[in-house]
Amino acid sequence: MDPRRYYDEFALRYDDERGGNVEGGYHDLIDDLEIDFLARFARGADVLEVGCGTGLLLARIARFARSAEGVDLSPGMLARAKDRGLSVREASATALPFSDASFDVTCSFKVLAHVPDVKQALAEMTRVTRPGGTIVAEFYNPWSLRGMGKRLGPAGKISESTDEAAVFTRFDRPSAATALLPEGTNLVDRRGVRIVTPTAGSLRWPMIGKLLRAAEWRLCDSPLATFAGFWIGAFRKE
Ligand SMILES: C[S@@+](CC[C@H](N)C(=O)[O-])C[C@H]1O[C@@H](n2cnc3c(N)ncnc32)[C@H](O)[C@@H]1O
Repeated sequence: MDPRRYYDEFALRYDDERGGNVEGGYHDLIDDLEIDFLARFARGADVLEVGCGTGLLLARIARFARSAEGVDLSPGMLARAKDRGLSVREASATALPFSDASFDVTCSFKVLAHVPDVKQALAEMTRVTRPGGTIVAEFYNPWSLRGMGKRLGPAGKISESTDEAAVFTRFDRPSAATALLPEGTNLVDRRGVRIVTPTAGSLRWPMIGKLLRAAEWRLCDSPLATFAGFWIGAFRKE
């Protein structure tokens, strides 16, 4: 399926379970952990988010960054980001419409795993980042409960007629993900998101949900990050 059509369909319901719409929601926990990590590098910085979707993360980035720009492949997603008043434009991760060294921080969450030429996307993110700046890139980790669930379980629905199997998805363990970055970048920090949560629904179980949430915050920067469903690396550009 054409990825644009897939994401345009997804845009119609993407925010339904995000942005505080579900009390104690799974997606908000993931987003909170991502934004908390990004803020280490992006406070007061010029930031680009690659694959900004409906702008849920970009709107939060805009609150602590000096400037916040987004690009995305999907006009449907971008329409929602524009409704949020964000500075976004249509572009592919593999051909970013910016000059070299335009941003202090270039980040991407829940996107790179869906880009077939992920090396080119990471090369582009590195190109538009200033020397001394940071590339914050998230990957899907096969060495995780989430990775196992995705391999063995049914594909999640993104609309009445379409599920996640319709879009390209890759899984890279942390060391393999690091090797995808171009020469001249060095891993300086990392975080694991969704380490012990077995299923999205388990966060709604009485008591257990609270414990799982607390454990995710406690463990995200521990050595167990290697076994997180979403592994985020922060790479400094020389
Ligand atoms: C799961 S959403 C994530 C959106 C946002 N980053 C977030 O965390 O809420 C994935 C987004 O990546 C975009 N995307 C997928 N492939 C892309 C590519 N090659 N170039 C730019 N955007 C892409 C999709 O259109 C979609 O908006």
